[in-house]
Amino acid sequence: MTITHKLALIGFGTVGQGLAEILLAKGDALADRYGVRFQVVAVSDLLKGSLYDPAGLNLAALLDLARRTGKLHDYAGQQPGRALQSGWDSLRTIRESNADTVVEISWTDVQTGQPAIDHVKAAFESGKNAVLTNKGPVALAYRELAELAAAHGVLFRFEGTVMSGTPTIRLAQNALAGCEIREIQGILNGTTNYILTQMEGGQSYADALAEAQRLGYAEADPTADVEGWDAAGKAVILANVLMGGTLRVADVDRTGINGLTLADVAAAKAAGERWKLVARVWREAGEAAGPIVADTGARASVRPTRLPLSHPLAGVAGAVNACTFTTDLLGDVTLVGPGAGRMETGYAVLGDLLEIVREA
Ligand code: HSE
Repeated sequence: MTITHKLALIGFGTVGQGLAEILLAKGDALADRYGVRFQVVAVSDLLKGSLYDPAGLNLAALLDLARRTGKLHDYAGQQPGRALQSGWDSLRTIRESNADTVVEISWTDVQTGQPAIDHVKAAFESGKNAVLTNKGPVALAYRELAELAAAHGVLFRFEGTVMSGTPTIRLAQNALAGCEIREIQGILNGTTNYILTQMEGGQSYADALAEAQRLGYAEADPTADVEGWDAAGKAVILANVLMGGTLRVADVDRTGINGLTLADVAAAKAAGERWKLVARVWREAGEAAGPIVADTGARASVRPTRLPLSHPLAGVAGAVNACTFTTDLLGDVTLVGPGAGRMETGYAVLGDLLEIVREA
């Protein structure tokens, strides 16, 4: 038997379109393998428009319109005879659509978390699960949202907020569940790692940043990447979700890569080293490990760091991310994988959706 799991996509930019492409390509295989068909019933995007069809939207038509016109307005004319609503705002879509899960993939604001925090609250309050790749709500309001989800008996998943589809949070929560994580060190921002890699090959900072934007790695406002805000938000997510911290983004000791010059990069190279934007999460000495109900002393920093080429993070090039978990029972466990990108982040949503279906 195949069940249908209905989705409302809040945002239809890079990640939403990547997810739609994955569902089109793999929908039959997922139904065969896992007995579930994910059906997008609603899309609400501030720029492209909003559509709701309780019986499911045509993903190929949505993708075609988004690519050709950047708007979804012509969809209704192409799908005669459907019970279609258009023009609902995001909150109405979340509250009134028949979706089982809201996929919050609107733009990230790690300063306020809005409007995504309100979207996630509305989802939980209307009995819907939420999957996010949007870092804002998790970095700023993880505990409040986790408690709200639990109170409403729904699920809250956000694998794509750190290292896109590379299963970082899942690895730590599931496969390392019996270990205490003592420290995390990682390259958590694809854009800056791409820029630093390109600069090592002689490309200018500005050209490398423009290329990262063209490839879809950079945030809508790339200062979030180069000034280290994005990596700081991810460090806070790891600290608060995996190490019981109560950090705010402003608590992170943060320096970006925007002060680094080609000469700095060349000097490191000549010395057999490489600049990397390293995020670090650790516990203050003397603080006990503990459940998420109490502050466990987790702290975080994000800093450009010169690493010797022999360091495990030094060889991580381009938009690739990496994360080393230092644990009590296994020592260091390092995960390397994509940290940004259309299909990579779309995949993060798919992984969360499959987990929701398994757990629901
Ligand atoms: N701008 C982010 C990065 C996207 O470059 O890593 C993925 O979170």
